Amino acid sequence: MKHILTMNDFTNEEIYSLLIQAKRMKDGKVQSFQAKPTFVANLFFEPSTRTKMSFEVAEKRLGLDVLDFSPESSSVQKGESLYDTVRTAESLGASAVVIRHPREGFYHELVTGVSIPIINGGDGKGEHPSQCLLDLYTIYEEFGTFKDVHVVIAGDVKHSRVARSNAYALSRLGAKVSLSGPKEWKDNTLDFPYLEIDEAVQQADVLMLLRIQNERHNQKGSQSQYLQQYGLTLDREQKMKSHSIILHPAPVNRGVEIESELVEGERSRIFTQMENGVYVRMAMIRAALQEGGKTDEYTNQKCT
Ligand code: CP
Repeated sequence: MKHILTMNDFTNEEIYSLLIQAKRMKDGKVQSFQAKPTFVANLFFEPSTRTKMSFEVAEKRLGLDVLDFSPESSSVQKGESLYDTVRTAESLGASAVVIRHPREGFYHELVTGVSIPIINGGDGKGEHPSQCLLDLYTIYEEFGTFKDVHVVIAGDVKHSRVARSNAYALSRLGAKVSLSGPKEWKDNTLDFPYLEIDEAVQQADVLMLLRIQNERHNQKGSQSQYLQQYGLTLDREQKMKSHSIILHPAPVNRGVEIESELVEGERSRIFTQMENGVYVRMAMIRAALQEGGKTDEYTNQKCT
C-alpha cells in the first residue's frame, strides 16, 4: 500500500493486518524508532477536531515530526493550488501527507505527480478511510468478528463519507449492513436495505448514527423533529438488544441524532472510537511509510 485513498485500496487481508497492528499499538508493543527526522504534513482544508488531532497524536507517538498547516494562513490565500501545496510539502522533505479536502476525489489530481504517500483524511462526500478503519476496529474489539454482525448506518446517508466507506468495507468483511434515515437523504448508489428507525434499533447489533452534514446541504429542518422521527431517543434505546452498541463518528449534534445523555451511556462507544482512532492511524501511517520506501527505519522495524 502506498496511498490510502479509499477503502477499496485495501484487501480484506490488509484490513485485518492493520487492525492487528493497531491492537499492537494499543498494547504499547511498537516503539517509535527514528534515526533521523521524518516529516509528515497534515493539510486540512476543511474543519476537523478528531481526525486532525488524532493524526497528529499518532504521528508524534511514532516519533515523526509534524508539519502543521492551515489554509487560512498559507499561500492557498494567494491562489496556490492543492497540487502545488502538496508538491511544496514534498520538496521541503515531507515523507507523507494527510489531506482533508471538501472536493470529492481530490486525490485524482495528485497521484500521478506526487511521489510520497497521500492519506485521505476525508474527501467531500467521498470516503473517510481512517474513520472507517477505527469503526471496524471498535466493532471487531466488541464482537471479535464481522461475520453476521448487523450494522445499521442511520441518518444523513447521502452526504456522508463515513457511510460510504463503512457500508462497502463492512459488507465485504461479512457484516450485514442496513441503512436508515430520511428518504430525501437516501443514497441510491448504496444498494443496502432501508429500515425505519424503530425497526433499526431492535435489529441492530451496531447502531452507527451519522451527523447531519449541514455544511453540505440546505435542508436544515427542525432539529427536535429529527430526533423524534429519525434519531435515537431514550425510548428507542430501551428497545435495543442487550449487547448492542452505539457508534457515531462525531462531532455529535446532541439532542438531534441522539439524546444527549446517551452519548456517554453504557452502550455508547463514541469516545472509545476516538481513542481507537489514534492506534488505527498509527498503523495506517506506518503502513504508508513502509510502502513509500522513504524510511528504512520503519521498514526494518519489527512488531513484537
Ligand atoms: N469524525 C471526524 O472526522 O471528526 P472531525 O471532523 O472532527 O475530524
